[in-house]
Parts: sequence; C-alpha cells; structure tokens
Amino acid sequence: MQIAVFGAGYVGLVQAVGLAELDHEVFLVDIDEAKVEALQGGSVPFYEPGLEDALKSYIASGALRIETSLDRNPELAFVCVQTPQLGDGSCNIAAVKSVLASAHLPELVVIKSTLPPTEFRVLEVESNCELAMNPEFLREGTAFDDFLNPDRIVLGVRTPEAEQVLCSVYEKLEAPKLVMSPESASLTKYAANTMLASRLSLINEIANIAEVVGADMDAVREGLGSDPRIGRQFLRSGAGFGGSCFPKDVLALATSAHASGYDSKLIRPVIEVNEEQAGRFVAKIEQELGGVNGKRIAVWGLAFNKNTDDIRESPAMRAVKLLLAKGVFLSVYDPEAMQNARAELGSDVHYAADVLEACDDADALAALTEWDEFKEVEWPRVAVRMKGGFVFDGKSFLDRASVERSGLKYAGVGVCD
Ligand code: UGA
Repeated sequence: MQIAVFGAGYVGLVQAVGLAELDHEVFLVDIDEAKVEALQGGSVPFYEPGLEDALKSYIASGALRIETSLDRNPELAFVCVQTPQLGDGSCNIAAVKSVLASAHLPELVVIKSTLPPTEFRVLEVESNCELAMNPEFLREGTAFDDFLNPDRIVLGVRTPEAEQVLCSVYEKLEAPKLVMSPESASLTKYAANTMLASRLSLINEIANIAEVVGADMDAVREGLGSDPRIGRQFLRSGAGFGGSCFPKDVLALATSAHASGYDSKLIRPVIEVNEEQAGRFVAKIEQELGGVNGKRIAVWGLAFNKNTDDIRESPAMRAVKLLLAKGVFLSVYDPEAMQNARAELGSDVHYAADVLEACDDADALAALTEWDEFKEVEWPRVAVRMKGGFVFDGKSFLDRASVERSGLKYAGVGVCD
C-alpha cells in the first residue's frame, strides 16, 4: 500500500521505517527542512537501537522517501506530529490540525499522535476525511522492536471499511488487532500510560514507607511480584520516572476528564509523588553521607531510560541539578546522553570518559539510569577507584550482592545496608 506518514519525530520515524519493513511504500513528510535533509542522508537525530540501519536500507531500496511536503495521493495517511502540553495540562492539537489541512490527503487519515477523545471529535468535525485512531505503545530504547513485535494493535475506527484497511496495513504483524471506537482507542492509550505511571508512583511510595518503617524494599518487591495478579514488571522503585510521555499524558487525562465533567481524585497525585521522588533520593544521599556540600559524587546515567539519549523529564537530570545546588562536585557518565546533558549542564559538571573514570576519588556513586553497562560492571574495579563506599541505586537495577561483595555499601530507595 502507498502510505504517507506525517511527522518525522520519534513516533513518525519508527512508524515510517516499520511500515517499509512491512512491505509498504512509504512517504515520510516533515516541514523541518534540515531534519528532512539529515534523514534523507540516513542520519537519525536521536539514539534508537536498530533504527538508523533500517532507515538507510529502506531509503536505498526506494521503499521509503522523505519529503517536506506530499506531492502525490497516497492510499492512506498516518498523523504522527507532536501534541505538546499547554500551560493548563491540556493537549495542543494545532500541529495535527495543520496536517489535516494539507493537500493530497487520502479518504482515510489515521491519527497516531496522542490526543484525548474530545479532541479527536473536534478534529473529526473539522476534517474533510474520515479519521481513525491508532495509538502507539512504543518505548524509547526499544521502539523499533516494539513496532515489529507489539502486544496488541489498537484500531479506533468508525466504519468497517476503515477497519479492513487498517487490518491489512498490519496484516504481517501477528499481534491481536483490537477494534473499537476512536474514543475508546484514545482512552486506551491514556489509560495504559496512566496505569503504568500510577504503578510506579505507588511502588515509589511503598519504598518510601519501607524506609520509615524499617522494611526492605527488595524483599517487599519479591513478595509483591510473586503474585501473578500483580506481576514483576514496572516494580522498580527509585528516583522517579521520566520521559516525554508519562508526565504529559497523565496530566492530559486528568485535565481532559475535568473538562468533560469528571474530577479524578487519583490521577494528579501520580505526578506529585513523582516530582518529589528525585528530592527524596538526594535527601537519602545527604543523610547517609552526613551532608554533601563539597563532596565528590559519581553519577552513572543521565537519560530518562536505558538505550536512549533522551533526557526529557529525566529523574537523573533532576537529581543532578539538586546535587549541584547543594555544592556537590559531580562526575557524570552516560553511554549516549552526554551531548544532550552538556547542552543543559554546561561546564557545571565533569564529563567522564567511562564508568570507571567517573568514580575516581568519588565519595559516593549514584546510578540513575538502568543501562546494562552499569549492571554488568566489575564492582571490585569500581571500589578501588572510589574514595568513599556508598553506591546509591536510583532505579533498583543493580545487583546488591555483587556491590556488597566488593566491599561497597549498597543503598536503594527503601533499601539500606
Ligand atoms: C511509555 C510507555 O511504556 C509506552 O508504551 C508508550 O508508548 C510511551 O510511553 C508513549 O506514550 O509514547 P517510555 O516513556 O518511552 O514509554 O518508556 P518506559 O519504558 O515506559 O519508561 C518510563 C519511565 O519509567 C522511565 O524513566 C523508566 O526508567 C521508569 N521505570 C520503568 C521505573 O522507574 N521503574 C520501572 O520498574 C520501570
């Protein structure tokens, strides 16, 4: 099928390359000329495993073309442009509206951008095309793999014809195709992110409680995760969650529910708990070290998640800024996010060349992004480089026993030596 994808950001680029992988002929359209030029040359402006190689190969085969405007009539279009947060927490759909005003749109246009059910209806009333909703469930760091191996494909459609077109687009993917109304598809997306974010804020609160009542969060996590109704995923407590999606989407759901006449009691505190969590993590470091002013602390991880260079809303960056404000000398290392962090932190920190150099003479180490490289480190080699003995785990991902075998003291949120 000939398919246009509007918006060459994170979602649009993965969608376009993914559709090419499913044997469609894809036209990726973005108004940013510099971005289009870089992409035409095969260069992805962010780090996402597997994406750049696939982009290059589909450009070379001619299956994927990248342009600044659409000059032909595709059979289908996906809208993947940004829907940023407005000051009141609601969602700005101006970029989607502007795509829907483009020339050469097909009869069916599918919205992938995250927007509330009410906004979908606004677009539907104003549009000359039939609209459908197909939310994305891509995690940064595994986005391309998530596209090719989804748990489910949610199709929000008004007509059997739209259902049939979308089912054939994704025919090669084995995942169940869940067909529903566009309103339900939109709410499914917000509900999924809000459910996951709520789980993280709840597990962080339980870890905070573990600290004050003297329980061990690792043991509690094992006890919780062993219940199949609860499961083990998204139970890692720490300095909070980050990224461009959870904070924005959780707030947008509460705001849109309020605008439609329902006041949620549960949703907004998910964000409030998260915003305090990095501060709690820093307070723990302060308490264990007996103050941090003038101390040297190594920081492993700046990105909000592993396998990405994205530092948006990163708890690691939040903790770094709080520590800097307290007069700490920081030596930071991240496998991919150093350049983005440098743009925000300038010369306020030392940028280490690797994990070990970051630890030289450090009074403590704070690990804040769950990169595999940090998990697999040889702890005795870390211990000899450090001056002090504390390792603070801001994502509950390090192997406590290995840390302790090297003579270092392990401290996580809700876990103390
Ligand atoms: C999230 C959802 O997982 C995707 O399904 C969704 O499509 C995407 O938002 C979106 O709306 O576009 P993402 O934010 O990229 O994906 O990454 P996640 O893997 O969900 O991680 C979010 C945050 O939670 C990260 O800061 C991560 O470190 C943190 N986290 C995750 C924890 O603190 N503890 C855990 O146990 C798991």
